[in-house]
Amino acid sequence: MSNNLLAGKVGIISGALDSKSIAWKVAQKAHAEGARFVLTNAPLAMRMGEIKQLAEECGALIVPADATSVEELENLFSQATEHLGGKLDFVLHSIGMSPNIRKKKHYGELDYKFFQQTLDVSALSFHKMMAVAERQDAMKEWGSIVALSYIAAQRVFPDYTDMSQAKAMLESIARNYGYRLGKLKKVRVNTISQSPTKTTAGTGVGGFDAFYDYADKMSPLGNAPAEACADYCITLFSDLTRYVTMQNLLHDGGFSSTGISEDVVEALMKMNS
Ligand code: NAI
Repeated sequence: MSNNLLAGKVGIISGALDSKSIAWKVAQKAHAEGARFVLTNAPLAMRMGEIKQLAEECGALIVPADATSVEELENLFSQATEHLGGKLDFVLHSIGMSPNIRKKKHYGELDYKFFQQTLDVSALSFHKMMAVAERQDAMKEWGSIVALSYIAAQRVFPDYTDMSQAKAMLESIARNYGYRLGKLKKVRVNTISQSPTKTTAGTGVGGFDAFYDYADKMSPLGNAPAEACADYCITLFSDLTRYVTMQNLLHDGGFSSTGISEDVVEALMKMNS
């Protein structure tokens, strides 16, 4: 059901790799709510081609950009404002990748070059996006910028290794740039800390199925699906949340406030009997 929450709004959506991606659902919902936008992803991910279907479905232009490259981000923002006919109302950062996780390295054997790549792709890219937006004066007043995070920024999930530090940095960048863009342009910046979700990035983390099930059992509402995360992003892009900024917003079915749940107790009792 559409409420035209984003009628007349324009923006950039990064990170739609395939139909499981959280960004894919955000694009579909933003389109349904009346937004126009540019889709972007790393040139390598583009070659897989699926993003073209999404672009057709949403009438969106695709502008490839490696989010670690300031030059490519400059091109992205200038092409987006030109194509969309003016400044932007919203930007979604939905980008994460850890070579250490891909190579299944445990926390004690992390490769530091990989670690730096993890931070560059998954966290610094968010700063770079906002710095480019600031330099190009690309955001409208009362615009909204959102990035996706995970609770491993605050709690230990051993298999999440260096992505935990990347998410902690991402959330800190949101607070600090949120202050700056709030003062400069009344633009708000937030992170959404999402439940484990069955996407390419999510399922790449070791033991994903177990911690997906564990989080689901721990959360009174169950894990939040990707579609619901997209709904939350839409509310943050809309004018209904104009004074929410510099926050890490937990979208996790209640997981973060639960000590133990009856479902987990029951599962452990079964195991021990
Ligand atoms: P996904 O794998 O569909 O999306 C990750 C995206 O990052 C892909 O589109 C990939 O091409 C893009 N990317 C990687 N390197 C890039 C680069 N150098 N430049 C530009 N784009 C690049 O997976 P998902 O789950 O939709 O991930 C989106 C965001 O949600 C990520 O920040 C992830 O950490 C976060 N998140 C995911 C959770 C999960 O369990 N799936 C839980 C909480 C947060």
